[in-house]
Amino acid sequence: MKVALGLVSAILAANLYLAASQIPPPLATTCPYPVDLVFLVDSSESFRTSGFEEAKTFVQNVVNYFTLGENDTRVGVVTYSNIDAQITRIRLNENYTRVELLTEIRDIPYDRGHTFTGLGLDHVRNNSFLTVNGRRSNTLDFLIVLTDDESEDDISGPAQLVRDMGITVFVVGVGEESDIHQATLETIAGDPRRVFRLEDHDFLVDDSHPRTIREAICNATQCPTLTAPTNGALSTTATSYLTVVTFTCNPGYVLTGAVNATCQADITWSNPVPTCPPVQCAARAAPANGAVTPTGAVSYPNGVTFTCNSGYTLSGQATPTCQSDTTWSHPVPTCQAVQCPALTAPANGAVSPTGAVSYPNSVTFTCNSGYTLTGATGSTCQADGTWSSPVHTCTAVQCPARAAPANGPVHCSDGPS
Ligand SMILES: *[C@@H]1O[C@H](CO)[C@@H](O)[C@H](O)[C@H]1NC(C)=O
Ligand SMILES: *[C@@H]1O[C@H](CO)[C@@H](O)[C@H](O)[C@H]1NC(C)=O
Ligand SMILES: *[C@@H]1O[C@H](CO)[C@@H](O)[C@H](O)[C@H]1NC(C)=O
Ligand SMILES: *[C@@H]1O[C@H](CO)[C@@H](O)[C@H](O)[C@H]1NC(C)=O
Ligand SMILES: *[C@@H]1O[C@H](CO)[C@@H](O)[C@H](O)[C@H]1NC(C)=O
Repeated sequence: MKVALGLVSAILAANLYLAASQIPPPLATTCPYPVDLVFLVDSSESFRTSGFEEAKTFVQNVVNYFTLGENDTRVGVVTYSNIDAQITRIRLNENYTRVELLTEIRDIPYDRGHTFTGLGLDHVRNNSFLTVNGRRSNTLDFLIVLTDDESEDDISGPAQLVRDMGITVFVVGVGEESDIHQATLETIAGDPRRVFRLEDHDFLVDDSHPRTIREAICNATQCPTLTAPTNGALSTTATSYLTVVTFTCNPGYVLTGAVNATCQADITWSNPVPTCPPVQCAARAAPANGAVTPTGAVSYPNGVTFTCNSGYTLSGQATPTCQSDTTWSHPVPTCQAVQCPALTAPANGAVSPTGAVSYPNSVTFTCNSGYTLTGATGSTCQADGTWSSPVHTCTAVQCPARAAPANGPVHCSDGPS
């Protein structure tokens, strides 16, 4: 009895050692997001014991590429063989840690039966990807089917239903075309790019296929490519699941909409691309004796044009522009009245006021006593800077001709007498 017990514990210890030795060392895991990952493993006769062990090594190698955990990648395993043998071996919500998961995979028994892949797919749909069994709503779902034989039941309907749940299906087919048709594998996966063929069970232990599948899973989801808003930019052109794109607008443009968007599990962006309309500069007042166009608010980088009425000249910048900080590049110009040159007073007269005169003012002329004005009494400074009547003269009053006195000549002289 003692001997028997000792033997049992020795066997147990040996098994534990074997299990531990079959756990591969941890790998650098760089998948940018956690996933819900289920394996559907053919447990039919054709695998044979050694091939089934290699299949478990394959599953271990794939999961070992992920960061595992309750809140990281979760793994489930289902085996299938006979019509009544679809068995959940590991649910998504158990065996979260790497060592317990890899141990549990290693311990999965071999069934040796027939190949009812359609029933296996139904089981996955009915059980594995249920919330109650650990499927999460905010992660991507992947199914990896591992089989080496043509199915004895229909696979196209069950595979379609699985994919209709939003589950991305990969297939690893072991054997030659005569063992399992490429068309069958493609029907299960729904896309030839997700079909991997290994010619022999021995290749299941090759690490390159798990690595490729991991990469495909980690690259799987791509949201549509985004186009930068007009007058704006995107922080990244990446489109993979969980990518956060931040939107910015160029200086002078205001972001209108969400500032970022995340690529979600349903491969849509959480927000649309915003627009970047230009900033507005406030409407400008027309200067006195002038006008402005346009009269309303103006958007960056446009400008306004100032003009002066006839008789005024513009002093300042006639076409200021609206700047990105909503200020104007230049102040409102002024409209300066045109100046007419000073008029000189006529001889024997005066002009008032003296000096240069601005449009539209006038001056008046007067003549000294004894002189009379020829021409208009005033002159107006005109819009073109000229005087309306520039020439004025004061001429001496003419005395009426006098009759010469008898015996003497008449002398007249100018000026007042
Ligand atoms: C996973 O997340 C849940 C909810 O945030 C938290 O309660 C739980 O402790 C986390 N588990 C681990 C192992 O971090
Ligand atoms: C895996 O999870 C099941 C259910 O929680 C548990 O019974 C089993 O012991 C776990 N396996 C290991 C290796 O931890
Ligand atoms: C899956 O569920 C359907 C009904 O929802 C049932 O008819 C079918 O037998 C189930 N199949 C398996 C393999 O669990
Ligand atoms: C995954 O994406 C990376 C980077 O874009 C690329 O180098 C790699 O080939 C992709 N792998 C697969 C399997 O598509
Ligand atoms: C995205 O924008 C929202 C709302 O402004 C903000 O709360 C959140 O922190 C942003 N996310 C990232 C990753 O920048």
